[in-house]
Amino acid sequence: DGEYRHGKAVMVRGVRMPHVYAYLTGFAEFIENFTTKNDDVFIVGFPRSGTTWLQEVIWQIFNDGEISRHPIGHRVQFFDEAKFPHTTQPDITTRASPRLMKTHQPFHAIPKGTSENSRCKYIYVARNPFNVVVSYYNFDLKMAPVTDYDGPFEYFADMFIKGTTYWGSWTEHVLGWWKHKDDDNVLFLKYEDMKKDLPSQIRLICKFLGKNITEDMVDRIAQQCTFDAMKNNSSAYWMMTRDGELPNFLRKGQIGGWKDYFTPELIQRFEKEVLGKLDGSGLQFDLGR
Ligand code: A3P
Repeated sequence: DGEYRHGKAVMVRGVRMPHVYAYLTGFAEFIENFTTKNDDVFIVGFPRSGTTWLQEVIWQIFNDGEISRHPIGHRVQFFDEAKFPHTTQPDITTRASPRLMKTHQPFHAIPKGTSENSRCKYIYVARNPFNVVVSYYNFDLKMAPVTDYDGPFEYFADMFIKGTTYWGSWTEHVLGWWKHKDDDNVLFLKYEDMKKDLPSQIRLICKFLGKNITEDMVDRIAQQCTFDAMKNNSSAYWMMTRDGELPNFLRKGQIGGWKDYFTPELIQRFEKEVLGKLDGSGLQFDLGR
């Protein structure tokens, strides 16, 4: 829809998803019938908020700081692609526990434990929207085969403000999860805090998951999960682009890198129409300016 090309979307249980993920594959039925387990861990975030980073950190917490060259999506499965047509991933429903999974679903759509005795855990990561939209634009423009965007940044930013990119409105996404930040099975993190002090965030994650790890292990994982360390382990983070290339999808990994993309007018619009919607919620972001 619109002047520029952007891959076809389909609404699944109120969530705007890429057509191939969802429509062709019965994702709605899959997610509706998905049974959670007590020891399931969902890593959650709006796209481009640091979910891959969190996948790696949490996988290492569960695997004694091992560095794996195995693709991250096989170790911590992307739930939203569980029914992807040509997946090479194992079946998520029969996967050995504890199941580590990543998803972009908003709170209202996430699989929930069916009773008090089956409460999985959710670790949410939020990132400042200026960086999210720049990262998302670069990803959709250059990489993702399903999104296939061919327009300029301004048009993409307008879609982002209106909530018509995949997985919908950023503000609704973060606010939906923020409301549940004090639930005992939800941990709400921020990309900027991870960037500034990863060890402290690793300690929070371990406490939340009930994992005892040594300070040495905290430091080791923090060092192995810096942007540069992960970028060097490129075999774990590739994806197939629509041109059939296999680039690394870690791009810049910064807090303030959005400034080159924004005109003063767009900054004003974002402050009003995106950040403005957080007013009164207590949720704030370091924009790195
Ligand atoms: P940039 O495009 O700004 O570089 P997600 O995995 O949720 O889609 O988020 C992707 C963003 O997280 C990308 O942002 C990526 O580079 C960044 N990222 C991944 N690993 C990181 C790390 N170790 N440190 C900082 N940023 C990281």
